[in-house]
Amino acid sequence: MENQNFLSGVEVLSNEIEELVSTLPREKLWDGLYSYQYQGFSVPSTVFHSMIFFQRHFQARDTDVILVSIPKSGTTWLKALIFTIVNRSRYSLAESPFLTSNPHELVPFLDKDYMKNQSSIDQDLSSPRILATHVPYASLPHSTVSCNCRIVYICRNPLDQLISFWHFMLALNQEKTEFFPIEKAFEMACQGVLFYGPFWEHTLGYWKASLEESNKILFLKYEDLKEDINFHVKKLAEFLGFPFSVEEERQGVIEEISKFCSFDNLKNMEVNKSGKLPVGHQNSIYFRTGKVGDSINYLTSSMSERLEKLVEDKLSGSGLTFKKIIQSP
Ligand code: A3P
Repeated sequence: MENQNFLSGVEVLSNEIEELVSTLPREKLWDGLYSYQYQGFSVPSTVFHSMIFFQRHFQARDTDVILVSIPKSGTTWLKALIFTIVNRSRYSLAESPFLTSNPHELVPFLDKDYMKNQSSIDQDLSSPRILATHVPYASLPHSTVSCNCRIVYICRNPLDQLISFWHFMLALNQEKTEFFPIEKAFEMACQGVLFYGPFWEHTLGYWKASLEESNKILFLKYEDLKEDINFHVKKLAEFLGFPFSVEEERQGVIEEISKFCSFDNLKNMEVNKSGKLPVGHQNSIYFRTGKVGDSINYLTSSMSERLEKLVEDKLSGSGLTFKKIIQSP
């Protein structure tokens, strides 16, 4: 009975959303699918219904940890790090669930998964729940902002993020011939058309909120983690309320967690080499090069300069900056 109500609720929602969708401006994205302009950001048509369901129905709890990112900013890495830090007394690294499951299986994406798996996310996940979303700050469900849950935001140099995303879409769409060349993807990114973008608005929303509520929102950059992962593992643990004891520090637990969640270690796990997610993606597509500055191999210097300048202008006055990707002469 409950299930029936739930299903008819979804059906009513679907009709209403079909109507809403028909009024929204849309853009054809790289893979030929549409992205809708909604609440000032670009929502992929594939998650539109489920994202609205998440916005309307999700109730955050004080104990929740919510990871937020624009796709391809280091979400997989942070899912592994946060889960491992928070659950270190439950699972030793030798029996870590990451040895048999990809990080995306253990930490659900609310925008995509909450509609499908509401009861398991609300009832079965142990506390603290570790959850993820790509939704911009201004569009988060109210309870997420008003309760005492913790939000960890990860962002990345926009040039590398764009190239990582382009490769990801290529990997997902190998059979499609209409796939965009990098020049077109680049032009769209400059116009702010990028999943959950514009990049600058997504990042600025969380940046400003993190300045106002530093106890609630931790703002991280991929490049900073690459530079000093041990420092950031310690910082994350403190922020999440799971600080390392002096004894743990002495035993090298921080370094062990950093190494366990490193790109090379996760990429080379059998589950990530040969496994698939329930949606059918190969786990391996979440691990490409894991490097800072790879965009240099795909964008010309004038493209890089243009996007860097655009982002710099958009972020100007906010105090948020990204290091320049160094171009070869
Ligand atoms: P590249 O495509 O540049 O290699 P997301 O997890 O948000 O989808 O981002 C994917 C990007 O993070 C990919 O970047 C991927 O290789 C990189 N990545 C995945 N796991 C990582 C890890 N443990 N450490 C560093 N980078 C990682």
